[in-house]
This record gives sequence, structure tokens and C-alpha cells, in this order.
Amino acid sequence: PVIVYPDMLSASKNVAKRIADIIKQKAAEGKQAILGLATGATPVTVYNELVRLHKEEGLSFKNVVSFNLDEYFPMAPTAAQSYKVFMYKHLFSHVDIDPENVHIPDGALKQDDVAAFCVAYEQKITAYGGLDLQVLGIGRTGHIGFNEPGSAPNSGTRLVSLDELTRSDAAHDFGGKAGVPVKAITMGIGTIFKAREIILMAWSAKKAEIIKKAVEGEVSADIPATYLQHSDHVEFVLDTGAASALT
Ligand code: F6R
Repeated sequence: PVIVYPDMLSASKNVAKRIADIIKQKAAEGKQAILGLATGATPVTVYNELVRLHKEEGLSFKNVVSFNLDEYFPMAPTAAQSYKVFMYKHLFSHVDIDPENVHIPDGALKQDDVAAFCVAYEQKITAYGGLDLQVLGIGRTGHIGFNEPGSAPNSGTRLVSLDELTRSDAAHDFGGKAGVPVKAITMGIGTIFKAREIILMAWSAKKAEIIKKAVEGEVSADIPATYLQHSDHVEFVLDTGAASALT
């Protein structure tokens, strides 16, 4: 289903509440909550609200195990643009998650070690019983994670090449497009599909065109987000701007 909120903040608060409810429900059962997380501008307001829920309403992340979608390759884990730095800056440094429960693809691996790392990443998610929830943004190429056009529906975690549009959109973070890595490690479409719940978020009219294609367009590898139309446990959470081109 598609749910449209009047603005990004109310949408983000609702998504944060969904995440908090999963964490609390699992804690009540004495279990861990296995969360698939995204970076980028889109989830920042969700993470802000989760930090608020931790600080003001006692939401604990002690039982949370996280798996991030992706990381640039190569990328030093301490670099300002790394998704590891991003996650600690916006969420992990402000809550009581055990750093041992945090999993983020490692952009500092030797290229020869990447394939084995990717297999192990998949196995680890499976060993935890799979993702309870996967949070997604969407790129203007229609990527989810860094599954760019051409990605197969059964793809797993792997090293991919970034689309030129994706690299242009990241240019301001890297002092120009030339500084943007050409590759990334990403969970696959197949990895994302195995999550028991998927929430794709998009804010503002800048995303309206790609959201129209993702939600209403023909399912095709040209727009990987269209694969989500085949999932019966996905929710597109939009603000009015991102929903503005929908029929
Ligand atoms: C980030 C990710 C990407 C972003 C997408 C949108 O972990 O996997 O798919 O969700 O590029 O980025 P923003 O939110 O910056 O518009």
C-alpha cells in the first residue's frame, strides 16, 4: 500500500513509532529486533525521532541488531562520507545499542575479500532469523540500497557499480563527482525481499517522478524499486510532494 502524509515530519514520526513498536514487542518476548537500516537524507528525521524516543521516553536499543543496506567501496570507515560515520552520527552514538550488534558493509576490505564478506553478511542475517523490518529510501535511478538499474530480483549482497546519476547526486558530499567512489557493497534485491516488513520512504517533489515509476510503472530491472510491487509486505510512505505525480 501507499500511505501519504501531509509532511515529512509526521511521516517520519509514524515510521519511527513502527520501529519502536517492533523493538518493544520483541523485548517483551525476550527477543532481539533485527532491523535493516538505510542512510542518506531520507531517514534522518526518523533517526532523530528514534533518538528522542530513547532520550525522552525510555526506548531501549539493547535488544536491537542492525544491518545496514550498503556502503561505498572503497571507503575508510572513519571518512566523513562513510555510512558508518553517518549511522553513528545520526543514531547509534545517541542510543544504547551494543556496537557488537551493528553491522555495516565494510568499505575498507581488500577487493579480493569482498565476495566472501558478502556471503558472510547474508549468512549472518539468516542466522539472526532474518530482518524484521527493512527501511528504504529510493534513488532517482530507482535504486533501493545500491541496486542500480539492471539488478536482478534474486540478487544478494555484492559489489556493484554506481550509476552515473547516483554519483552526480552524491557529488556535493565528495567535493565533486570525480571524488565519488565508482562502486559500493549493497544488500541485494533478494536480501531486501526476505525482510518480513519493508518500508520505502520518499520526501518532496524531487522524488515524485521516480515514485510514480516505482509504484505505477511496469515492473522491470530498469527501475529496481518496481520489484517491490511484487511484495505483499511493502509500504510506500510518502509526503504529499513525493506522491504528487501518482494517479
Ligand atoms: C542509502 C541507500 C540509498 C538511498 C537513496 C536515497 O543507504 O541505500 O538507496 O536510500 O539513494 O538517498 P536520499 O535519502 O539521500 O535521497
